[in-house]
Amino acid sequence: MYNSPLPVKFINVSKEFVSHESRHQVLQGIDLEIQSGEVFGIVGPSGAGKSTLIRLINALELPTGGRVEIHGSAIGRGRELGAMRQKIGMIFQQFGLLSSKTARQNVLYALELAKAGTPQTRRAKVDDLLERVGLSAHADKYPAQLSGGQKQRVGIARALANDPGILLCDEATSALDPEATAEILKLIDELNAALGLTVILVTHEMDVVRRACDRVAILEQGRLMEVGTVEQVLFSPQSEAARALGLHLLPRPADDGSGRARLRLTYFSDTVASDVLSAATQGLDVSLAILAGQVAALKAKPYADLIVALDGPDAAASVSRLRSRGVRVTEVVS
Ligand SMILES: Nc1ncnc2c1ncn2[C@@H]1O[C@H](COP(=O)(O)OP(=O)(O)O)[C@@H](O)[C@H]1O
Ligand SMILES: [Mg+2]
Repeated sequence: MYNSPLPVKFINVSKEFVSHESRHQVLQGIDLEIQSGEVFGIVGPSGAGKSTLIRLINALELPTGGRVEIHGSAIGRGRELGAMRQKIGMIFQQFGLLSSKTARQNVLYALELAKAGTPQTRRAKVDDLLERVGLSAHADKYPAQLSGGQKQRVGIARALANDPGILLCDEATSALDPEATAEILKLIDELNAALGLTVILVTHEMDVVRRACDRVAILEQGRLMEVGTVEQVLFSPQSEAARALGLHLLPRPADDGSGRARLRLTYFSDTVASDVLSAATQGLDVSLAILAGQVAALKAKPYADLIVALDGPDAAASVSRLRSRGVRVTEVVS
């Protein structure tokens, strides 16, 4: 496989859908640079414009303002567009497989459409692709005989058929159960590492971003609210939208009616000592109660994310200690 990762740039992009009775501004003022080889998430609520945004990358939609560049060139038309599209693979929530074709035939079809190679080289390539996605044993099954996760593996093999530099994933795990979701995210991570593919992953679930992405953009009502590393957006959010998405990952703390200030503490558990909480209160006139929390991971990097109530005359000193030991402390406004 000869994938070479491709960067994508949006320059003041807007998209308006116009029908005879209405105009609908779906995207506005989108400026965004996605680097070669990164796993980039686009997250936001339903109707935010995520699918429209990702469809602009392979020209399934065209912008009504601004431009989209791939590797420095604006997306072309005609034959040029066809060649460009082959360098961009896409997978979908509902998989988009042909039900009358087996897994093998679905992947082969993508090679035939591209008129790539000879019948022999195509067959060999399909075998390679199915092996790469772990589906060799199911190559001759029809979509109806496959689980959701297996169907998405076929979708991925097909998307990779023409050695794309970019893989677009539109809610690719939204129809899958948690186990299949984890497997597909792992496969995407492996492909990104092994092939250096640029992956652009659209989802309404921050949890998917947390597990799979390097950077993320938050889209709301057609506008980018925030762009940053997943760590920045989750732990030091600058926008209300990012704050809400980050807190949404935590269990809701019970309201104890005391009106005490709540703090969110986050720290990477591989770099911050495990006794950090007791050390932060030791010898001080302060009480610390954990109201909600979880231990999770950013990609493979484990972290703790807690909501606590901190009370007493020495609360400020306790916060200083936490910060000096590498814990991020932010106020939770509920
Ligand atoms: N072809 C279209 N014509 C008119 N409106 C559209 C079209 N495609 C999407 N929209 C509208 O654009 C908005 C954003 O849609 P979409 O990009 O699918 O959002 P998301 O993927 O974030 O749920 C929605 O209000 C949707 O109804
Ligand atoms: Mg969508």
